[in-house]
Amino acid sequence: MRQQLIILFLLLLFSLLLRLPATAEEPEVEARRLLNALGCKGCHSFEGDGGSLAPALDRIGSRLSREQIAKHLVAHTENRQQSTMPSYNSTAADKLKILSDFLYKHQ
Ligand code: HEC
Repeated sequence: MRQQLIILFLLLLFSLLLRLPATAEEPEVEARRLLNALGCKGCHSFEGDGGSLAPALDRIGSRLSREQIAKHLVAHTENRQQSTMPSYNSTAADKLKILSDFLYKHQ
């Protein structure tokens, strides 16, 4: 009984340790996945990969603020009705936040 508890404790400790580095890089992994999954790279390139219909998203954080990037994903057509970029206002807000935070960090 006691042995089983010790094993259980060690397993818990181990899984906790294994998760630590993963949680630190999760938003970045998720953001990169979203860039593909939401089709951004169909138009924009990022790190040399993607389309050329729109400005590259590399170093976008040095041109736009975090808020401007976030807003661009949902409300960019407010000022530029003719934009071909789709509005992502039906995408979950937490996903958009991960994506815009990630893009903003690329300065
Ligand atoms: C159908 C093509 C298309 C898709 C898909 C697309 N965009 Fe765009 N995007 C554009 C175009 C064209 C512009 C430039 C005109 C404008 O500002 O709307 C633009 C502009 C932007 C800008 C502002 C860039 C600047 O230099 O001002 C950001 C940020 C951006 N897109 C992010 C994204 C992200 C993130 C995604 C995916 C979630 C995405 N776009 C998907 C076409 C697209």
